[in-house]
Amino acid sequence: MARDQWGTKAGFLLAAIGSAVGLGNIWRFPYVCASNGGGAFLFPYFFAIITAGIPILILEFTIGQKFRGGAPAALGCMNKKWEWLGWFQAVVAFFIATYYAVIVAWSISYIGFSAKQAWGVDTESFFFEKYLNVSDGPLQLGGIQLQILIPFLAVWLLGYIILSKGIKNGIEKANKIIIPLLLFLTGVIVVRGLTLPGALDGLNYLFTPDWGSIWKPEVWVAAYGQIFFSLSIGFAIMITYASYLPKKTDLVNSAFITAFSNHGFELFVALGIFGVLGYMAGVQGVDVAEVSKAGVGLAFVVFPAAISALPALKGTVGAVFFITLVFAGFTSFISIIEAYITGVIDKFNIPRQKALNIFVGISFVVSFIFVTGAGLYVLDILDYFINNFGIVLGGILEVILVGWFFDLEGLRTHANRYSNFAIGKWWNYMIKFVTPLVLGFMFVQNLVQNFIEPYGGYSFGSLLIIGWGAFVLCFVFAFVFYNMKGDSSVMLQPSKEEVSK
Ligand code: ALA
Repeated sequence: MARDQWGTKAGFLLAAIGSAVGLGNIWRFPYVCASNGGGAFLFPYFFAIITAGIPILILEFTIGQKFRGGAPAALGCMNKKWEWLGWFQAVVAFFIATYYAVIVAWSISYIGFSAKQAWGVDTESFFFEKYLNVSDGPLQLGGIQLQILIPFLAVWLLGYIILSKGIKNGIEKANKIIIPLLLFLTGVIVVRGLTLPGALDGLNYLFTPDWGSIWKPEVWVAAYGQIFFSLSIGFAIMITYASYLPKKTDLVNSAFITAFSNHGFELFVALGIFGVLGYMAGVQGVDVAEVSKAGVGLAFVVFPAAISALPALKGTVGAVFFITLVFAGFTSFISIIEAYITGVIDKFNIPRQKALNIFVGISFVVSFIFVTGAGLYVLDILDYFINNFGIVLGGILEVILVGWFFDLEGLRTHANRYSNFAIGKWWNYMIKFVTPLVLGFMFVQNLVQNFIEPYGGYSFGSLLIIGWGAFVLCFVFAFVFYNMKGDSSVMLQPSKEEVSK
């Protein structure tokens, strides 16, 4: 079977940017930045982009393109045993897909709610009690919530249909349509946000440095975590997308364009969001800090309240904001699924449709847990553990193995071959020393911290079953898939001659 390929270089770039730009940029970044020292957070943030984000993106593009396989096949080509790591990353992607779908589904519902600001005055109880109907705790499922079910089914169905059409006719086409629209709609939000009275207060809050926090390890942890999630690195996606590239591709340039677009978008959209929050704080006569609540709350509790406080065009601005969230989330969602589907197709040499039927089917069924009354709790715990432990460990192992036990210099030469500008030795130092050291420190520090103070005030039992349980399952499933007998004729072993080129 001939391997699918991107139709154009621009198509690949749009898909990579589409994967990177996601929910992480719109609701996660503004909050993470503001609560980790505002302007001071930007220093570790840029440091993390330069030392880990861009170097790892170049590495993943190079590995995927050179070995022409998803993470399991490509890493397995480099060293048979490393296929395990590829599966580990693919399983992490699997877990992310299961809850990512439901956040996109909530956003779809909120497009409808925007028309008449159905959330009313108390946006918090509307979201948690009326819409999500949250149960008493993560282990009390509380039944399927029908109001979430319809958008939820739509997200999975549309994702399935697009992925069925393949790389060029499915993913590339979807991104070519969605990304320009996303950019336009984001522009609308930013212009609206920045032209509101009080917008400057919001920006001041976001960007005023709190230099004290730069010495706190958790601020660095937050910065690295944000970069990994936001750039879609460390969980099989970028290796997969690059595996569908033609031979003569400018990898270095592509990585820089993807990273700059992603982080540019992240900062750009934050201007609009904090403009709106600054305005709302002014209207309510409170501090911006007061209105900027955590994570999920920012998009579904604080932003609806801000929309209701607008002087005009509330429905339109609301709809534009939530459509932006849906578009950004959806293009990332399909990339997350593709990360493990490609792994399966490569290993077992089964038709794409069959791989999708089985594995999208399984993800879909697992995903139902997030449509129950316990969905929000489970999502919160899973998101935390998968991000802070799963993605980070996948990233650390990748840089250590490839940096220390593979011909890194050979990969650098390959990356530079068709590139407009060459990356120097600095890249090797980042992959070999800086990233493993910083990430390793961060991982251990976080692990210890979690034993001292269990995450989010949840019971030990629920963290054990959901959080640690999922983390352990990443190892177990990686081991199972690694040991399964695949179709060795297609485990994409490039000829020796091809590898050494
Ligand atoms: N990179 C994607 C995001 O930021 C996963 O949401």
